[in-house]
Amino acid sequence: MPWPHFTLNDGSSMPSIAYGHIYWVNQETIEPDVIKAIETDFIHLDTAQGYYDEDRFARAIKKSNKSRKDLYITTKWSRADTDIKDACENSLRQLEVDQVDLYLIHNRGLCGNDIEGHWARMELVKKLGYTKSIGVSNFNLHDLKTLIASCSIVPAVNQIQLDPHFYAEQIPLIEYCREKGIVVEAYSALIPLREDPDGPISKTLQRIGKDKNAEPEQVLMAWCLAKGCAVVTSSHQESRMKSYIQAGDVKLSSEDIEAIDKAGKQAAFRANTMKLARATSRRFISALGVFAVCWLLSLMIRVYLL
Ligand SMILES: NC(=O)c1ccc[n+]([C@@H]2O[C@H](COP(=O)([O-])OP(=O)(O)OC[C@H]3O[C@@H](n4cnc5c(N)ncnc54)[C@H](OP(=O)(O)O)[C@@H]3O)[C@@H](O)[C@H]2O)c1
Repeated sequence: MPWPHFTLNDGSSMPSIAYGHIYWVNQETIEPDVIKAIETDFIHLDTAQGYYDEDRFARAIKKSNKSRKDLYITTKWSRADTDIKDACENSLRQLEVDQVDLYLIHNRGLCGNDIEGHWARMELVKKLGYTKSIGVSNFNLHDLKTLIASCSIVPAVNQIQLDPHFYAEQIPLIEYCREKGIVVEAYSALIPLREDPDGPISKTLQRIGKDKNAEPEQVLMAWCLAKGCAVVTSSHQESRMKSYIQAGDVKLSSEDIEAIDKAGKQAAFRANTMKLARATSRRFISALGVFAVCWLLSLMIRVYLL
């Protein structure tokens, strides 16, 4: 079965795999890569005001083999120095569309002490028809509860960093989202493969992948899907884009999922232990420094008194 569409809490439908672009690398690759992604069957595109690439997405869409109506577009309000309504209008101009499908608050920090007021502006852009759905990104449990306590429209999506390493600590947030009908969309899910290729998560993904004739990144995406999460990913390579799309067909057993969860806990334990060791050695070195200074001072005083 290919990647499913998720029905959002406002009744609209969202393709569960999205393509974004790693905007901080060569800007020139954005347009050809987005065209490749669309032609590889990514129909959900993810961009943001803060990525400064919405115009390039617009050009790619025009040159691709699909039209606006066949695509699902997410963009985000990313700059606190712009009003949400103005920013959304500008995004529509950059993207050359009348409406986007999903508009997100890029991160909670943009709202300062006023989550309620900023969410009211998000509700306005939905009411004005600038977007079909509204949601948030990088909101933790506390932020979401604050928002939900005052909102008229419950966010449809929370786009968060998620991979097996963070899964255990994110369970309360994921469960709260599920309870409120908020779809969790995982970004940077492939970090364990990029940053810790010999770590417990990568090794487990490789082992499961070998059994299923699947690439490790496909297994990781299938894990996200098994957790009920959508995925936003990226690649410069057409072969990998195809492999991401085919990951929708990878089926994991409950044993596979448990093994990946367990590897995630091991990776988190290892990272926390290393963090603790670094903090302890920093404290030890500072204490040693203080001791050395005191010793030197007392030596100088003794020499002075002699
Ligand atoms: N809301 C937010 O705050 C936020 C934050 C970050 C990202 N995002 C969104 O999420 C999108 C994707 O972010 P991301 O790039 O971090 O996603 P990702 O899916 O974690 O990573 C994609 C990268 O992983 C590499 N990769 C794939 N399989 C691999 C493997 N087996 N071994 C090593 N590397 C592998 C790909 O390299 P190749 O190019 O070589 O294939 C690609 O560069 C962004 O473009 C953006 O739209 C949102």
